[in-house]
Amino acid sequence: MNDLGFDRHRRLRRSASMRALVRETHLRTEDLIYPIFVLEEEGQKNEVPSMPGVYQISLDRLAEEMDEVVALGIRAVLLFGIPKVKDAVGSEAYNDEGIIQQATRFIKENYPNVLVVADTCLCEYTDHGHCGVIHDHFVHNDESLPLLVQTAVSQAKAGADIIAPSNMMDGFVAAIRQGLDEAGFENIPIMSYAIKYASAFYGPFRDAVGSTPQFGDRKTYQMDPANRLEAQREAESDIMEGADFLIVKPAMTYLDIIREVRDRFNLPVVAYNVSGEFSMVKAAAQNGWIDEQQIVLEKLTSMKRAGADLIITYFAKDVAKWLQQ
Ligand code: PBG
Ligand code: ZN
Repeated sequence: MNDLGFDRHRRLRRSASMRALVRETHLRTEDLIYPIFVLEEEGQKNEVPSMPGVYQISLDRLAEEMDEVVALGIRAVLLFGIPKVKDAVGSEAYNDEGIIQQATRFIKENYPNVLVVADTCLCEYTDHGHCGVIHDHFVHNDESLPLLVQTAVSQAKAGADIIAPSNMMDGFVAAIRQGLDEAGFENIPIMSYAIKYASAFYGPFRDAVGSTPQFGDRKTYQMDPANRLEAQREAESDIMEGADFLIVKPAMTYLDIIREVRDRFNLPVVAYNVSGEFSMVKAAAQNGWIDEQQIVLEKLTSMKRAGADLIITYFAKDVAKWLQQ
């Protein structure tokens, strides 16, 4: 304190070099996981209307995305499949020749240093769009588990480096851990969508993969956005069941939850910067209302400051480019 009775905080803000010297939080390309939508078709690269710059891409053109990913230094991709046929039990999710399995094999053969994170869920593969099997218009917990286990094992057999179950059935981490271990995949980690809220921010993603529920919503399995203690319970049980990473999803409106999970548990915490968060920034930027680069860097930095170790984001390629400059 000086003799006028105040501190001169501005001393440490006087130049870009000084600010860099005292910066507390850093975004790094290694922190980013880039989601890719793989389409079971030929010769397709279709921009998702509500997600400018994001594509449904067929296997024969996946190299276009992967070459960019590698050139930018991104080390992990999160794969979502869009199958040709959907049915009531999501059979294509656990077909060893399914689109995710083929894409995984293609990436591991051609880009062995890129980590493949496989999203393990049924909603992209069911004709009703729910994340499990349906009984009397209700998603049945225990009957969905074996199908998720089959999906995870099939993804691991194809070469997935990390299994990321996103369906929010109770006991899914325990079931998948046991299934992977029994199949000889005890070294494959589980990145659990431990804390996943029933959020309107998933809208554009559901356009991208055609997984909007045909009836009802996901509120009987995804969490109520009003709840904080419930997030602790979800994290606790997933850790006990054998999770290796904890995802909090969405990110922007749940930074308080990220902070609490970071403070209370010691697994790597992953923030999922979801589709709606992406689309809102894109739309405002396309209108010239905001500075996209500054906004994105500020948002992702805030996720790291809140305690996220890793960020899943559709902005990964842009951010990697900006960080290279
Ligand atoms: C499916 C799944 C969803 C997302 C990732 N996996 C959507 C949902 O629950 O409907 C959302 C991703 C995003 O919005 O970017 N279980
Ligand atoms: Zn799902």
